[in-house]
Amino acid sequence: MLTTVSEVKTDGNTGAAAESCGAMKEFLFLLLVMTEASIRSNISRCERDCDCRGDLKFTICSRALFTQLPSRVPATTELLDLSDNNISIIPERSFSKNRKLRILLLQNNNISVIEDGGFSQLEFLQKLDLSWNRISTLTKGFSIGLTFLRELQLAHNCLTSLDSQSFLHLDSLQRLNLTSNSIHTIQVRSFSSMSTLRQLHLENNQLISLKSGIFSMLRSLEVLNLAKNKVNETEMGVFKPLTSMTLLNLANNHLYTIYFKTFLNIHTYSTHILLEGNPWNCDCDLQRVFRKLRSIHRLFPGRL
Ligand SMILES: *[C@@H]1O[C@H](CO)[C@@H](O)[C@H](O)[C@H]1NC(C)=O
Ligand SMILES: *[C@@H]1O[C@H](CO)[C@@H](O)[C@H](O)[C@H]1NC(C)=O
Repeated sequence: MLTTVSEVKTDGNTGAAAESCGAMKEFLFLLLVMTEASIRSNISRCERDCDCRGDLKFTICSRALFTQLPSRVPATTELLDLSDNNISIIPERSFSKNRKLRILLLQNNNISVIEDGGFSQLEFLQKLDLSWNRISTLTKGFSIGLTFLRELQLAHNCLTSLDSQSFLHLDSLQRLNLTSNSIHTIQVRSFSSMSTLRQLHLENNQLISLKSGIFSMLRSLEVLNLAKNKVNETEMGVFKPLTSMTLLNLANNHLYTIYFKTFLNIHTYSTHILLEGNPWNCDCDLQRVFRKLRSIHRLFPGRL
């Protein structure tokens, strides 16, 4: 900045030129002071190794080798990218100074502990990415303050079971991604607060049995991905509450038979049901079921 100022030539001869030149100098000086002040204040509010783009409301701290959350994040930040670090704990009220956050990216860290209220007070947060961490339980306090969250990414963690506490406060969630965990148990009412959920991704888990009641309340659900589990049993009423479904993916499970009534309550004619990669026991009963299903849904049973 200093060189810019010293390079301004003051070679005007006429009074008018000198005057405008003086004004120009004054202007440049002012600009310099302002820019320096804003740089200084940004530096003091911006953690080392982060890139704080105040004008864009972005704070990018990806791959900064952080082992804990940075303490200096500008209060104006709406997108905070902390992906690819080595953060292991999210303490209580971690983001209380960043209440304008809309997107929070924490994927690819070492997070195993989220203290109760770790994300509290984030009433503008729409997307939270926690995929590729080591989270094994979601406590009752995990979702406090996430009432307006729309998208939660939890793929590639260590979850083994879900219960009625897991997603307690997520009243506005539309997309939940639980791909590639080790979930073997889903208790009834696990998703009971999620009447706005549209996509539920449970691909590549350890589910064996789908008990009736586990998907109750999911009346807005459009996509249910259960591919690559070990499902060998689906209770008859399990899909009954899912009246908005357009895609049900049960490919690559351990299904050998299925009751016609299991799918009967999926009303939409355009619902796609993917069933390939299952060890179907193709007896007369099952053929009859598939024939009937094909007449009402777009059924993709794979090779029989
Ligand atoms: C990950 O976090 C655990 C504590 O939860 C710690 O023992 C371990 O050293 C961390 N791993 C790395 C690579 O920092
Ligand atoms: C779910 O997470 C996996 C792994 O991160 C990702 O590849 C996939 O695109 C995600 N799906 C959705 C619908 O967000």
